Amino acid sequence: MNWLFVEKLNKRFGGLVAVRDFDMTVEEREIVGLIGPNGAGKTTVFNIIACYYQPDSGRVIFQGKDLVGMKPFHVCKLGIARTFQVTKPFINNTVLENVMVGAFIRTSNTRLAKKKALEILEELDFLERKDALGIELTTVDHKRLELARALATDPKLLLLDEVMAGLTPAEKMSMLNLLRNIQKQGITLIVVEHDMKAVMNLCERIILMHRGEKLIEGPPSLVANNPRAIAAYLGEDYATA
Ligand SMILES: Nc1ncnc2c1ncn2[C@@H]1O[C@H](COP(=O)(O)OP(=O)(O)OP(=O)(O)O)[C@@H](O)[C@H]1O
Ligand SMILES: [Mg+2]
Repeated sequence: MNWLFVEKLNKRFGGLVAVRDFDMTVEEREIVGLIGPNGAGKTTVFNIIACYYQPDSGRVIFQGKDLVGMKPFHVCKLGIARTFQVTKPFINNTVLENVMVGAFIRTSNTRLAKKKALEILEELDFLERKDALGIELTTVDHKRLELARALATDPKLLLLDEVMAGLTPAEKMSMLNLLRNIQKQGITLIVVEHDMKAVMNLCERIILMHRGEKLIEGPPSLVANNPRAIAAYLGEDYATA
């Protein structure tokens, strides 16, 4: 049995099929990229794995447990954390307090939650912003806060939904380094990202979604040179770049 095993997921919103017969497997410590055009179904797959949505059919098995029907809180306790594409921190709370919310998944002790949150902020080189309010955050702060909050839950699997969107090239570089360090600590990553250079650089395996379905899967070089991938998403410019 695979570490994460997603089988024949289907999800409709009214008449719209957002995800269709989608299969995916992930092994422990992998970094897998999930790419595809806007509306392909990537965030919906994350929402189903993290149990924010229930699929119409299909299975999500994580370390032998079927997650379908569970509450997001339980999935998080099992070790799956996600970041949100549209970040939503508590705007009247500090960065530190926002990260402590993640840590409270594992402890009800405020002192321990604070200790954990401070450790994560230090690891992310974010400590100097610990007292900033949610409402004061810049784009890169929002992305780092999302990552910090997710890491504070002590995840085994991290679902990253566009953590590099809106960042400058230098900020992206530093985020890539952070993500590599996170993987080195033994955390498995599934990365949704539109920046192809970053995804191809970071990921060992890429899954390309198109209109809710898996179109292609393989190592970055195979996907980058696949004519169907180029036609569906990457574009001629990418092929000749
Ligand atoms: N809660 C919802 N209610 C209705 N339709 C939804 C909902 N969530 C997603 N959809 C629709 O499902 C389809 C897939 O959306 P999804 O957000 O999964 O795409 P995505 O691949 O993450 O796109 P993007 O790259 O723009 O973030 C889209 O057509 C979207 O409008
Ligand atoms: Mg999305």
